[in-house]
Amino acid sequence: MMAIKKRNLLLLCLSCCYFFISPSYSDSNTLEQSQQLEDGQHLVSADETFKLGFFSPGTSKYRYLGIWFYRPYDENYPELFDSRKVVWVANRNIPIFEKSGVLLTIDELGKLKISYNGGSSIAFSFVQSKNINASATLLDSGNFVFKEVDSDGSTEHILWQSFDYPTDTLLPGMKLGMNLKTGHFWSLTSWISECLPAEGSFSLTTGVGINGSSLIIIRWKRSVYWTSGVWQNGHFELLPMLSNEGYGYKNFSYISNEYEKYFTYSIIGNHTLARYVLDSKGAIAESTGLAPFGACSYKFDLGCVEQKLPDCRSRNDRFELRKGFMSVQGVRFDGSYNLSLFDCEAKCLNNCSCRAYDFFINGSQTGCEIWSEETGFTEYNNGREIYVLNHSNKVPHIQTQNTLEQSQQLEDGQHLVSADETFKLGFFSPGTSKYQYLGLWFNTPYDEKYPELFDSRKVVWVANRNIPIFEKSGVLLMIDELGKLKISYHGGSSIAFSFVQGASC
Ligand SMILES: *[C@@H]1O[C@H](CO)[C@@H](O)[C@H](O)[C@H]1NC(C)=O
Ligand SMILES: *[C@@H]1O[C@H](CO)[C@@H](O)[C@H](O)[C@H]1NC(C)=O
Ligand SMILES: *[C@@H]1O[C@H](CO)[C@@H](O)[C@H](O)[C@H]1NC(C)=O
Ligand SMILES: *[C@@H]1O[C@H](CO)[C@@H](O)[C@H](O)[C@H]1NC(C)=O
Ligand SMILES: *[C@@H]1O[C@H](CO)[C@@H](O)[C@H](O)[C@H]1NC(C)=O
Ligand SMILES: *[C@@H]1O[C@H](CO)[C@@H](O)[C@H](O)[C@H]1NC(C)=O
Ligand SMILES: *[C@@H]1O[C@H](CO)[C@@H](O)[C@H](O)[C@H]1NC(C)=O
Ligand SMILES: *[C@@H]1O[C@H](CO)[C@@H](O)[C@H](O)[C@H]1NC(C)=O
Repeated sequence: MMAIKKRNLLLLCLSCCYFFISPSYSDSNTLEQSQQLEDGQHLVSADETFKLGFFSPGTSKYRYLGIWFYRPYDENYPELFDSRKVVWVANRNIPIFEKSGVLLTIDELGKLKISYNGGSSIAFSFVQSKNINASATLLDSGNFVFKEVDSDGSTEHILWQSFDYPTDTLLPGMKLGMNLKTGHFWSLTSWISECLPAEGSFSLTTGVGINGSSLIIIRWKRSVYWTSGVWQNGHFELLPMLSNEGYGYKNFSYISNEYEKYFTYSIIGNHTLARYVLDSKGAIAESTGLAPFGACSYKFDLGCVEQKLPDCRSRNDRFELRKGFMSVQGVRFDGSYNLSLFDCEAKCLNNCSCRAYDFFINGSQTGCEIWSEETGFTEYNNGREIYVLNHSNKVPHIQTQNTLEQSQQLEDGQHLVSADETFKLGFFSPGTSKYQYLGLWFNTPYDEKYPELFDSRKVVWVANRNIPIFEKSGVLLMIDELGKLKISYHGGSSIAFSFVQGASC
């Protein structure tokens, strides 16, 4: 019974993760002192790019104050109208359950706050000792700025702005870095899931390289998950894609002075929906939905930090989403752990006795259930969605021999040896290089009388000299079922040997 209830919650949330936009009630961009913005009313930026109001992600019953792209639906660009249009959330960690009586207000004393029936109000995070006259404006940039207005209405002094408290989205003009005077950091933190804006386990921050140059870092919890390499001459070492020269309309820059150090970007031309989003699997997605960097949980790439696995696991182990039920109840991790789907997978992958896991959302909380190796799994179409480990992505290995047969594979560390034992074929890394190459070298056993024959220049042929492979694990030479000879590796497209085979035109 419990299981079924929980399943329904998850289904409801996952199946309806889109965001419904109700007609605009108010089209002002400014909230004045003593005014209030009720649930259902909105502020709209002067150029109609952004909208601010209360929303619930998916079928969640919780209300959040957020900013999203305000743009009428255009059927030519359906991908621009998904749930991820929300670019900022005010109360991500303090969901409001009560729908009625929710409002944003600047009270008579000049305090900006969210209040609702049956709870204490949520004040915006700044200290304000005196009573003031103030107003809050949603700018065309998407920045929500709260400012003090002098009694003559003239000078304005910024008290607080949403750009100083990014959620998971970097808009043009936002900063990533640090204010040296106040010690305030500008960083992104992923949502737990598309239904839950609460702080997830990935963050995007800046860091300092060995010689003092700046870089950007994705962390999973505390540990480094991906780095950009240092910023040098207008681009990141490991991220040539983002360079100012080659990356179209985004102008990235690094600003460093005595007050602050940060990365920022601007848009050249008309690209109002531009944004970078740190998703709940730790990848930075662009407005187009592509994951241009840090996508280590999708594919291994430059900058990804290799995640250690226990000896019981291999890189080929995969969890498959299946429907069914487990023979017994598993071990549950829920409540206050704030686990995401990614965290649940990591829990199972790193626990040698774990065979399957699932992820659930219960109200504003998330959790996982994990099951041991001994637990039975039964396929059943109307069952729960369970991620089950499949160890069987392995193909029989070859012994030492001189021939690779179809459907066999030669792994890193295995070799073909010519019949007379003169030559050896396998993967190698020259010197201290981290790159892998397929090569041929002399197989002569070391003879101390002739040490000069045993240096690194024993390699006589290299298959992929111009296509180095960064990923060490999962490198294979194989002849696939179609009879194609190729090098394949984890997280990249395979390298086929250069000959045309079976071409019909
Ligand atoms: C959901 O959370 C509530 C309160 O936190 C708890 O009482 C209930 O048992 C949970 N439901 C499930 C299915 O875990
Ligand atoms: C989970 O998130 C809440 C806020 O959403 C926070 O107060 C709590 O400390 C977090 N728990 C852990 C274990 O990180
Ligand atoms: C706020 O503005 C009103 C009228 O514009 C003025 O009378 C009042 O003194 C102002 N209050 C403060 C705290 O500046
Ligand atoms: C920092 O290190 C990089 C890479 O090793 C090097 O190219 C660069 O010149 C160094 N920068 C400074 C400021 O020393
Ligand atoms: C890119 O941004 C920098 C720093 O803000 C600015 O100086 C430069 O003019 C911009 N380049 C273009 C082509 O807009
Ligand atoms: C930007 O878009 C607006 C509205 O679509 C259009 O009027 C304007 O000419 C565009 N500007 C440029 C530089 O393309
Ligand atoms: C590992 O998984 C088993 C169930 O398979 C569970 O009983 C145990 O608590 C897990 N260990 C940790 C550290 O999570
Ligand atoms: C496990 O993976 C292998 C290879 O990808 C696949 O053929 C097999 O069907 C999978 N097993 C299950 C139970 O899904």
